[in-house]
Amino acid sequence: MFLKLSPFDSDGALLAFLGMRILSGIQPSGTLHLGNYFGMMRPAIELQEQGEAYYFIANYHSMTSLHDPEMRRKNTLDVALDFLACGLDPKKSIFFRQSDVPEVCELSWLLTTLTPMGLLERCHSFKDKVAHGLSPSHGLFAYPVLMAADILLYDSNIVPVGRDQKQHVEVTRDIATKFNQTYGETFVIPVERIHETMAVVPGTDGQKMSKSYGNVINIFGDEKATKKTIMSLVMDSRSPAEPKPDADKNIAIQLLKLVAPPEVAADFENRLRAGGLGYGDLKKALFENHWSYFANARIQRAELTQNLDYVESTLQAGANRAKIVARSVLKRARIACGLE
Ligand code: ADP
Ligand code: TRP
Repeated sequence: MFLKLSPFDSDGALLAFLGMRILSGIQPSGTLHLGNYFGMMRPAIELQEQGEAYYFIANYHSMTSLHDPEMRRKNTLDVALDFLACGLDPKKSIFFRQSDVPEVCELSWLLTTLTPMGLLERCHSFKDKVAHGLSPSHGLFAYPVLMAADILLYDSNIVPVGRDQKQHVEVTRDIATKFNQTYGETFVIPVERIHETMAVVPGTDGQKMSKSYGNVINIFGDEKATKKTIMSLVMDSRSPAEPKPDADKNIAIQLLKLVAPPEVAADFENRLRAGGLGYGDLKKALFENHWSYFANARIQRAELTQNLDYVESTLQAGANRAKIVARSVLKRARIACGLE
């Protein structure tokens, strides 16, 4: 019998049996928000049960948008605390700082030499970032090549990300295929894993939630500020009594579906649809559910903050483990292209 093996298989045991390697990164470019959590962190944390997971803090990447060294150090520590507090388990995953494995920069160069300009010119994220005022540096333009190096350096099979990163994984596949065709089979071809229900988490203005759009709800914001942000969600001017047949499009309902038990979210959606539920009450429910959703994580985070040596040694131990794979894959690539 022919068994079709797919990395998309939802059976965790099978993924583990197949030795699937899972990898993702997150930039330390600001405070983490619900879009980061539901789009990338939670799926990544769930996948750590299902294969060999590599998760890293993409501090080299953050250099394309942030030029303040103290902020980078602070944000890097914050991402480490946030991720560990939310359930990343360093006994199950390899968790490290990107720059502690600088081999990725060398691989990035090898890949650059086979990356067509046109491939990078088509990347939405570059155009989008420039449109939002970032300086179009060579680094920002070449960012997807560094991301390809991140993924290929660890022979990754599965890359859990939000939908905005799908194109970058496609670029990675194109570059890896070109390298394999040019120099012989060297790299594993990865696939993205996008949770369709959480692919694009809306921000307070209804656009994609993003640090660069100033529309975020932070995971670990302070209580008063978080409440204020949620109460300021943009709604229309229909009266509370009016029925709202488009209740499922409401931002607060969409966010409530993420942080509240399903029956609670369904009840609010039905009440909004029928008419009689005011937006103020809906937002209040969203705040309360958001606050209790992250209650345990907040306690974990406060404890980790008291134990920064543990956090630092976790990252260093992760980098030491990551380096073993990185060095062996880089050597394979160097031999393939005639550098050794
Ligand atoms: P930001 O847009 O806030 O700068 P990043 O680009 O650092 O976020 O994204 C880090 C991870 O979080 C990526 O995998 C990205 O796809 C995911 N992500 C970010 N914002 C959202 C969102 N609004 N919905 C779903 N996933 C998101
Ligand atoms: N580009 C990703 C982002 O902005 C972060 C990232 C860097 C990444 N390298 C990666 C994600 C490798 C997945 C795999 O969100």
